[in-house]
Amino acid sequence: MQEPDEGVRQGVEREFHAVATAAGTACALLRPQAGECIDILDASPATSLDLVRRQRNRRVPHGTQGRENCAMKKMNKLALIAGVGVMALGLAACSSDSGSDNSTKPTTGGGSTENAADCSVGIAMPTRSLERWINDGEGLKSLLEADGCTVDLQYADNKTDQQISQIQNMIANGANILVVASIDGTTLGPVLEEASNANAKVIAYDRLINGTENVDYYATFDNESVGTLQGKFIEEKLGLADGAGPFNFEPFAGSPDDNNAKFFFKGAWDVLSPYVESGQLVVQSSLGQSVKSLDDWQAIGILGWGSDDAQAEMENRLSSFYTDKKVDVVLSPNDSLAVGIAQALENAGYTADDFPILTGQDGDKAAVTNILKGTQSMTVWKDTRLLGERVEQMIKSILAGEEPEVNDTTTYDNGVKVVPSYLITPEVVTADLVQSKLIDSGFLKAGDVGL
Ligand code: BGC
Repeated sequence: MQEPDEGVRQGVEREFHAVATAAGTACALLRPQAGECIDILDASPATSLDLVRRQRNRRVPHGTQGRENCAMKKMNKLALIAGVGVMALGLAACSSDSGSDNSTKPTTGGGSTENAADCSVGIAMPTRSLERWINDGEGLKSLLEADGCTVDLQYADNKTDQQISQIQNMIANGANILVVASIDGTTLGPVLEEASNANAKVIAYDRLINGTENVDYYATFDNESVGTLQGKFIEEKLGLADGAGPFNFEPFAGSPDDNNAKFFFKGAWDVLSPYVESGQLVVQSSLGQSVKSLDDWQAIGILGWGSDDAQAEMENRLSSFYTDKKVDVVLSPNDSLAVGIAQALENAGYTADDFPILTGQDGDKAAVTNILKGTQSMTVWKDTRLLGERVEQMIKSILAGEEPEVNDTTTYDNGVKVVPSYLITPEVVTADLVQSKLIDSGFLKAGDVGL
């Protein structure tokens, strides 16, 4: 993004503030309550024609009349900006984030393509506390901005209510596409009804949104295959298919409110449960034993996917059930849990030489560092850049009035409809593949993982 010269910036800021104040609007450079507007000078340059086109194309959605209307404020600002002759500095976007540092400011797109006026995308991400969502959000935002779209990227601190109000603001601000990585996929029905009333298309990103017809497409990785890869890795490493065992086995699952978590667990459980039944895998902990069938997976779920909670749970199991035994294998559905579990194991005295087999998912820096030092066995890598590109393609098709390409129309039933989906294939990365898969492809930098 091209930065305006600092002197020009300050001059314009003063002038704009004076005019805005005189006109009785507090929207310009101040930060009032919800629906606030962001400093115009954070927006990238756009032509006056672009600005007018963008405003004309904004619709005032149903049910927002009584609410503070940021789009109107932006119209006021547009007039004011024109009045002081600073059109080239661009138009502010509005933010639903009341000063939280968990969000990035919306910006206007750098390009001035014909499409830009029709492409206003709200991206709702769950949290900044997990590495992958930061990469997902920033990556997708860059792709779309390069296409000339206006992008409003928000993070909801893993709080459902916050995500709902962020989406409401995106709708009120005229987003015609919403890309939502839900926190709890069962809670978004009402707000997506608002989206539908405003004719916004909704793409569920990575996680399915349940219980509503107002989700148009789903772009994700093959979630069940993530679990299958983890299960098969364990099967092969231990020689289970050849009858080896018994091995002490501790299973973990993902966040119970995340629709993906049950797919991950199913993939792994389908491979591993026959070995639990045969006695080749022996679960020592009582929590682990409480999983008698697939339906019980939530009992071992770690709410919110937190490393600390996974560590605490592993510490519990170690101190209660492993005082005179060794753990041989731990099924962890993703890297954030694996990092916590590895810490608990290290604290209990396990070293790279006798470390249990430990699975993961995502290719997070900390987990890959552990893989290289021998305290995690593998990760199921999901190249989130591919997911971003897939969503970008979907958006282009939608805006062109075409049906986006999908490759699965049967798996993802959200309780109301089967959501047309595009599933990307994940792959296993072990220590010997870190360089060729993760570093050479630019997904991680060598320095990120101590290389
Ligand atoms: C994603 C995983 C991620 C987990 C925790 C899941 O929905 O598919 O890639 O590790 O959430 O953020």
